[in-house]
Amino acid sequence: MKLINNLAVYCHGKSSHPAILFVHGFPLTAAMWSEQIAALQDKYYCITYDLRGLGESTVGDGQYTVEQMVDDALMILDAEGIEKAVICGLSMGGYITLRALERNPERFSGAILCDTKAEADTNAGKINRAAGIKKVNSSGPEHYVRDFLPTTVYQPSIERLGGKYTTLLNDCLKNGAIGIKGCLLAMAARTDTTRALPHIQVPVLLVCGEHDSFSSPAIMQEMAGLLPQSTCIIIPEAGHLAPFEQPELANSAIRDFLPLCK
Ligand code: MLT
Repeated sequence: MKLINNLAVYCHGKSSHPAILFVHGFPLTAAMWSEQIAALQDKYYCITYDLRGLGESTVGDGQYTVEQMVDDALMILDAEGIEKAVICGLSMGGYITLRALERNPERFSGAILCDTKAEADTNAGKINRAAGIKKVNSSGPEHYVRDFLPTTVYQPSIERLGGKYTTLLNDCLKNGAIGIKGCLLAMAARTDTTRALPHIQVPVLLVCGEHDSFSSPAIMQEMAGLLPQSTCIIIPEAGHLAPFEQPELANSAIRDFLPLCK
């Protein structure tokens, strides 16, 4: 692990290989990508990092924005001397990925969008974020995480994954109130990137859990239809954390896709 501008960054593989920047979801950490790293680091320079406020990264004042999170992603590429990378984001990481593709397309040779969507929060979604913040304030971040995390995965995955799910939960339980609330606010304030989709001129792989209740297969297939160069893979027996719940299936789709990114 190295600290780059107070962000915990983890680099795997040879820096001479093509780079992939992984952006994790909420309220997770870089550790969610461990099986993607294991499968890809022989041929790719895999960079993961903990988003501001989560994992080992600095919490600061909790006043986060997706714009700042895009700045962070680009700053990591700059610090590593990487001109262009493939960017792979899950859910909140996908919101950051989509805005990065809209704002700085010159920095990316391809993108992998896992269990995410281009639409901004609806009014109901924003009210739900506010309820989340209220819950963190009244019951504490641990209570919030214990209730929220199981809603993300396909329920049978919890038993099937056993210790792997418990490790993920324990990792999320280390995240504090300021970081969690800051991410909820950043997601509530994010822009809608739907109009950017037809202008994304790099290959995009979309990976969606069959049972994802946050960004359903229908939502992701619609998004794929708006992208000029897209492949959409639906992963069976997975929810909102498809690469974590079904790593072999997700990794095989990712491995087939990466050579398209030049
Ligand atoms: C995530 O998985 O990153 C978040 O749950 C997405 C969201 O709440 O919109």
